[in-house]
Amino acid sequence: GEQVYKYYADGEWKKSASGKSVSIVNPTTREPQYKVQELACVIRFHCGSIFFIVFLCLVDWVFGTACTQEEVNKVMEASKAAQKLWARTPLWKRAEHLHKAAAILKEHKAPIAECLVKEIAKPAKDAVTEVVRSGDLVSYTAEEGVRILGEGKLLVSDSFPGNERSKYCLSSKVPLGVVLAIPPFNYPVNLAVSKIAPALIAGNSLVLKPPTQGAVAALHMIQCFHLAGFPKGLISCVTGKGSEIGDFLTMHPGVNCISFTGGDTGIAISKKAGMIPLQMELGGKDACIVLEDADLDLVASNIVKGGYSYSGQRCTAVKVVLVMESVADAVVEKVKAKMAKLSVGSPEDDCDITPVVSESSANFIEGLVMDAKEKAATFCQEYRREGNLIWPLLLDHVRPDMRIAWEEPFGPVLPVIRISSVEEGIHHCNASNFGLQGCVFTRDINKAILISDAMETGTVQINSAPARGPDHFPFQGLKDSGIGSQGITNSINMMTKIKSTVINLP
Ligand code: G3H
Repeated sequence: GEQVYKYYADGEWKKSASGKSVSIVNPTTREPQYKVQELACVIRFHCGSIFFIVFLCLVDWVFGTACTQEEVNKVMEASKAAQKLWARTPLWKRAEHLHKAAAILKEHKAPIAECLVKEIAKPAKDAVTEVVRSGDLVSYTAEEGVRILGEGKLLVSDSFPGNERSKYCLSSKVPLGVVLAIPPFNYPVNLAVSKIAPALIAGNSLVLKPPTQGAVAALHMIQCFHLAGFPKGLISCVTGKGSEIGDFLTMHPGVNCISFTGGDTGIAISKKAGMIPLQMELGGKDACIVLEDADLDLVASNIVKGGYSYSGQRCTAVKVVLVMESVADAVVEKVKAKMAKLSVGSPEDDCDITPVVSESSANFIEGLVMDAKEKAATFCQEYRREGNLIWPLLLDHVRPDMRIAWEEPFGPVLPVIRISSVEEGIHHCNASNFGLQGCVFTRDINKAILISDAMETGTVQINSAPARGPDHFPFQGLKDSGIGSQGITNSINMMTKIKSTVINLP
């Protein structure tokens, strides 16, 4: 029969007892490409009626849904048991496993990249880059982990008023337990390993719930970790629709930490999750502020790279250009000229602009474009769409009453707002409910620093487009862009807690 990719638990590839599968539609062909197991859950209502409970048991028995809950429960139990042993495994050995996984991942870059091309229409070269970057991230995390976690602290009591030198406090970092990692479709491999590697080096176990688009790439990546010989149960990967399995996983009492990257589902998760550390990165509306003295060629190339790479489907994409009126015509002309050179087509041909991830995403983007049209934005190119493929579009003279001035298209459509003062640009940036990154272009470093200080975002890039990497840099959002800070070092720290032992002298 048709191949349905299995899920991974207890060191083995398994079929879900739910008997269900979920199809992954290729964004380019819009045909089903792969199938994965669907772990689908029903929430049991404790309504007290024996008839209702019997009815639910029957539903469970006929549709197999309760089995999935049991499967997830088993995953969590195995994960907890494996974690206890892993935490006692010497740090250098944990690092060795990660280095091995990194090497295997890089060796298998081609088949994993192929899945990224078919599942999320990532241009072929970028797909390979994602896997290689992931291997590098895993190795770097192993190296960083042995340094950070190899150090503890010794405190003595007599620095605090009223104390003698009679207490010695030894403190070190210990793991949290089971980490639940939920990466998004746009980096199903890289944003998975950016959670997996810090969790594992710090002595945690890891349950991965990959995005549906990108699940097969993630399963291949997990196979690389499997080949690296991690203990059974330490890593699990459960597949299924977030709407079916999401709540059961995120509210599971066995989970000790959630690291999530994605859309505003993260806000719902943070409201429902228990009293556990959360790391959330939930998108952005990164502003690009262009001053009159900026190098306009540098500005144009960064707007094109920042706004249109992977068809704008990056949380750190440039999502609004705020340009001083006096240089706006020149910037728009230069950007248009560069955009004309972007190739549009299939990811297999390594085109710059490829189909967006789904029809609903394309419809959403189109909705923003049509709203801007009705409100008389200037179209620098003709709007063109075929299936999920949307041609790159620059919208000039966008005003604050247009949806695209505030909303995140996650597509190759970029608004330009002309400003008459720097303050106006900062005001627009700060009025957003997002606060991930932003960038400012000027030759005046003093002005750049002051603007950076005034922008309410997790990071400001001076004279370059926003970007998460290099992957050891801190990465965080303010407001609806998330909580916690990522980047290799911060993620390792976040996935640990401090344990102290105090020696009391007689
Ligand atoms: O989509 C969100 C990613 O964290 C952005 O990563 O800046 O490397 O594209 P990137």
